[in-house]
Amino acid sequence: MDITVHDHARATARAHSNIALIKYWGKRDETLNIPAVGSISVTLDALSTTTTVTFDATAGEGGRAADDEFWLNGVLTESTRVLGVLDLVREQAGLTSPAVVTSTNDFPTGAGLASSASGFAALALASSAAAGLILNARELSVLARRGSGSAARSIFGGYVALHSGTQKDGLDAFAEPVLNASDWPLSVVVAITTHDAKTVSSTHGMAGSRATSPFYPAWVDSAEDDLTAMRAAITTRDFCQLGELAEHSCMKLHALMLTSRPALIYWNAGTIAAMHTVRMLRETGIAVYFTIDAGPQVKALCAPEDAAAVAHALAATPGVNETRTSSLGRGAHLVEA
Ligand code: DP6
Repeated sequence: MDITVHDHARATARAHSNIALIKYWGKRDETLNIPAVGSISVTLDALSTTTTVTFDATAGEGGRAADDEFWLNGVLTESTRVLGVLDLVREQAGLTSPAVVTSTNDFPTGAGLASSASGFAALALASSAAAGLILNARELSVLARRGSGSAARSIFGGYVALHSGTQKDGLDAFAEPVLNASDWPLSVVVAITTHDAKTVSSTHGMAGSRATSPFYPAWVDSAEDDLTAMRAAITTRDFCQLGELAEHSCMKLHALMLTSRPALIYWNAGTIAAMHTVRMLRETGIAVYFTIDAGPQVKALCAPEDAAAVAHALAATPGVNETRTSSLGRGAHLVEA
């Protein structure tokens, strides 16, 4: 997939969020934001970020980060990471002009719905296109990863794997597609238990787990086997295997979080109730599995024909405020402003 330039000064891109089936948690390089373990995700159609980047050449020389503006959902927001990605793009394009970035999420920001994934994937594509850079999908994925690890995966649609790589420069830590969305439709029912933003960011939380959880070495050591098994489940379209592996990776992640010091407890009562609902549905014969990121929302994975029953049961679960059902979505793409 080659991305072509849309406009040399301004471009708008849309990217969808993703949910990891095999989780990323922990970095091998914090400066370059290189994950310590690989991960596998599905891109979600129902959750997206739309971002417009404009490089203002009239602002003259010496603008750079100090004059950049980042508007998130209509609010002027400080983000050193957004400025970091803009600086990388300016450096590659030989630009000095400051940028205005406007970004809108169509879902709650910062509450475990992976807004950084869709956000940085959209930013990577919009800013590079606005700067006139022609990056291939792999280069875009590496650029998005510098903003947020999970964003590297949102460059692609469907089933996606992110490699941790081994190179010091991180250029081999990119995502690539495993299977197209249309080749194996899947539904994800998101049970939203709160709209509050989380208190500990993933970045901060994973640094703590790496430094303090006695389970961290086991987490890293077992990652490769989980990734291999998940790839096999996807390529053979074995849904029960995919679900069991996803639930296991989720529980292993949360065991790591719970055993960090201080402990990271991202769940609330609604989260746990929703987990029980999913297990109860399974006992009644519906093939449905849960996964949870660094937040209180529960994402239930099921076949599209079971999505309505799963959403109904989750909506009736105490502590669940609302549900949102998503099919699998496409990768980051340029749109008309
Ligand atoms: C639990 O990608 O948000 O969602 O690279 O520090 O920005 P940074 O972290 P981020 O972490 C995602 C953690 C996770 C699991 C996953 O998406 O793989």
